[in-house]
Order: sequence, then C-alpha cells, then structure tokens
Amino acid sequence: MEIDPETGSENNALVLVKQGAEARVFESVLAGKRSIIKERFSKKYRHPSLDSKLTLKRLNAVHDQGSTARHFNSGSLCRRPRAPYPDFRVRGGPSVKDVFLGFWSNGVVKERLADIATQIGDAIGKLHDGGLVHGDLTTSNMLIRDESNKLVLIDFGLSFTSTLPEDKAVDLYVLERALISMHSSCGNVMDLILAAYKKSSKQWCSTLNKLAQVTTFSYPF
Ligand SMILES: Nc1ncnc2c1ncn2[C@@H]1O[C@H](COP(=O)(O)OP(=O)(O)O)[C@@H](O)[C@H]1O
Ligand SMILES: [Mg+2]
Repeated sequence: MEIDPETGSENNALVLVKQGAEARVFESVLAGKRSIIKERFSKKYRHPSLDSKLTLKRLNAVHDQGSTARHFNSGSLCRRPRAPYPDFRVRGGPSVKDVFLGFWSNGVVKERLADIATQIGDAIGKLHDGGLVHGDLTTSNMLIRDESNKLVLIDFGLSFTSTLPEDKAVDLYVLERALISMHSSCGNVMDLILAAYKKSSKQWCSTLNKLAQVTTFSYPF
C-alpha cells in the first residue's frame, strides 16, 4: 500500500514519527483508534515476489502479536500478565539505545541504568510467560515514556507465539549480543536484566538453562 502523508484528512492524517532506512513510521487514527502505521519500503536488491512475501509475513506478525500483546494490557485475558506494548505513539520518549549510549558522556547515572535494566527483564519475563517471543530484542526496539519513565517494547514484526524454552533463550541471547556489541561501556546490564527476568517469569529456570546451553554452543571456549 502506498501511503501519502499529504492526503490524510484532519482525523486520519499521517503524522511522521520516524523516517528510517527500512521503514517510515506514522501516527494516525485507524478505525477510530490512535495507531502507529509502519510503511515498509520494498528492497530493490530482492526478487519482487520474495520481497512482498517477506513484507506481508512481517506485517501479519505485527498484527497478530500486536493484538495478542494488547490483550495482556486490556486485561481481557485476565490470567495473562500485563506486558508493556504501545497502542500508539510513545511521546517524546528516547530509545533505550540512546539512554545507554549516554552513560558516561551524558551523565546518565547508574541508578537510571539499573532501573531500565530491571524494567527490561520484567517486561521480557511477562512477554515470555504470556507465550510471546519478541524476535528482535535490541535497545532500539525499547522506548522510554517521557512522562512516566516506563519502558515500552516496540517492533513486533519478527515476533511469534511460543512456549519453548529454546525460543525464549534465543530471544535473550539476541539481546545479550546486542548489549555486548553496542553497550559494552554500560558494564553488566545483562546480569541486572536476568535478575529481573528471574523474578518476573515463572518459567525462568528452563529458559536460563537453555540460554546457558545456547551461549556455550556459540562460544565453546
Ligand atoms: N509506538 C511508537 N512510538 C514512538 N515512536 C515509535 C513507535 N514505534 C516506532 N517508533 C519509532 O520508529 C522507529 C522505527 O520503528 P520500528 O518499529 O523499530 O521499525 P524498524 O523495523 O525500522 O526497526 C523506532 O526506532 C522509533 O524511533
Ligand atoms: Mg526496530
């Protein structure tokens, strides 16, 4: 679908939130609800039919897992834990990537780092216990709400439902690798995240056992 930011009426106008290399993100109103709309660009280097299949797969994932995750928030699946997932735009909030990169240089203090790490572990634990694997846990896909300082997970395009410990372990492993490559100056954030994950997820034991196996398998020495 082609989206033209100029053509929206006052109610469903598309307000550009972010222009990225792979997608443009807009805020708008869809079916009467404030929504985030993501426009993916086609990749010229990919065969057109493969490109449209991949794009459709990611869009369906956003739709399916987005509504599942929102169920946690709405309380309609009352036994399910509440998972932080945005229905609409997280106003002004920086990404966790930006906050972590500001550690040392921008005076981001240790306490703030620890608070965010705890929120990350808590959120992932809730998501996993609810049967959702994010699939792309990086600090770019985590925003902090300005007003409340609360963490919100975004970008569920690669997410899927699973209760398998190995899927959850790989989710955490991806995050661990992202932290090592991008935020090595922040020290042992992953330890803080895992401590919070253990408190938040009832199935932490099987997941963390698998994580140890995944890590050993990838780095045997
Ligand atoms: N709900 C949201 N509220 C505010 N900004 C958002 C929201 N969703 C996405 N963004 C912004 O758009 C950027 C790209 O969105 P994302 O879904 O992560 O797409 P990509 O697939 O390009 O990584 C994010 O890094 C963030 O800056
Ligand atoms: Mg993203």
